[in-house]
Amino acid sequence: MYALEVEQLGKTFRTQRGKKVVALKGLTLSIGQGEIFGFLGPNGAGKSTTIKLIMGLIRPTSGTTRILGVDSQKVEARKNVGFLPENPALYDYLTADQYLGMVGKIVGMGKQDIQRRSDDVLERLELLHARKRPIRGFSKGMVQRLALGQALLHEPSVLILDEPMSGLDPMGRALVKEIILELKEKGCCVFFSTHITSDVETVCDRVAILNQGTLQKVYQVSDLMLEGVHGYRVQYRNAEATDVQSVESSPERLEAVLAELRSSNCEVLLVEPVRKSLEETFLDVVGRS
Ligand SMILES: Nc1ncnc2c1ncn2[C@@H]1O[C@H](COP(=O)(O)OP(=O)(O)OP(=O)(O)O)[C@@H](O)[C@H]1O
Ligand SMILES: [Mg+2]
Repeated sequence: MYALEVEQLGKTFRTQRGKKVVALKGLTLSIGQGEIFGFLGPNGAGKSTTIKLIMGLIRPTSGTTRILGVDSQKVEARKNVGFLPENPALYDYLTADQYLGMVGKIVGMGKQDIQRRSDDVLERLELLHARKRPIRGFSKGMVQRLALGQALLHEPSVLILDEPMSGLDPMGRALVKEIILELKEKGCCVFFSTHITSDVETVCDRVAILNQGTLQKVYQVSDLMLEGVHGYRVQYRNAEATDVQSVESSPERLEAVLAELRSSNCEVLLVEPVRKSLEETFLDVVGRS
């Protein structure tokens, strides 16, 4: 059984003036249990619309979505899911502890479980010091962390996160990536949207690129890393052992370049691939315009 299935999903909004906005066109995707899947697309591509449809928060114009085999329109589909919305708005008169307590009750957790898991997530998200403070006094990054915490509270096996790194500093981004990798270790499926390509490269198994409501491509990230290699950069120290220099070589010439360096008594320090980054691939796919 797939963690998430999206079939021929389409969504057309009607604005108050009756104008049609086609946000999503015939999207089909299947995401396995234990898979980390990045959903990449520029602003307005339809990422949040897809996520809201998967979560059953809005109705599709066409197509279906299922979570662990259950149609998203059914309430039970959301039982084993953690959800982080875009721009989370939390009840800011509550403290972090009270907020997690409320979320725990809504998802049917017992008192002890709520206490244990609140301790865990607040510690992991580095919010223990602020647990007794009202959320209205939180910084943007702290709100984002707490919102992620509520998604993790009941230890769901599927996580749907709309831009989880948004508004976070470099330490916060690194922390969220670590948490995503820990979830993978536990066998969870994480589906997250972003428009930042480096977030995807380091944590995802697969990535889909969406543009103007249409799925452009789905990549296996490991393939993307290998396919994109178009040369190598060799760092070396010359025979006089003065400064470090570097030279670039095509894959075909690499052996010859290394042999030339060795024969002139240079010490080879580093050989690294020069590859097309996901960012370049992304720009090629969605068009530099
Ligand atoms: N409720 C709505 N009414 C009308 N149009 C909408 C509505 N929600 C979204 N749209 C439109 O659908 C398109 C896709 O929006 P969506 O929020 O899914 O994009 P996104 O990929 O999440 O973008 P971002 O990276 O900016 O968050 C946009 O053109 C947007 O204006
Ligand atoms: Mg969005």
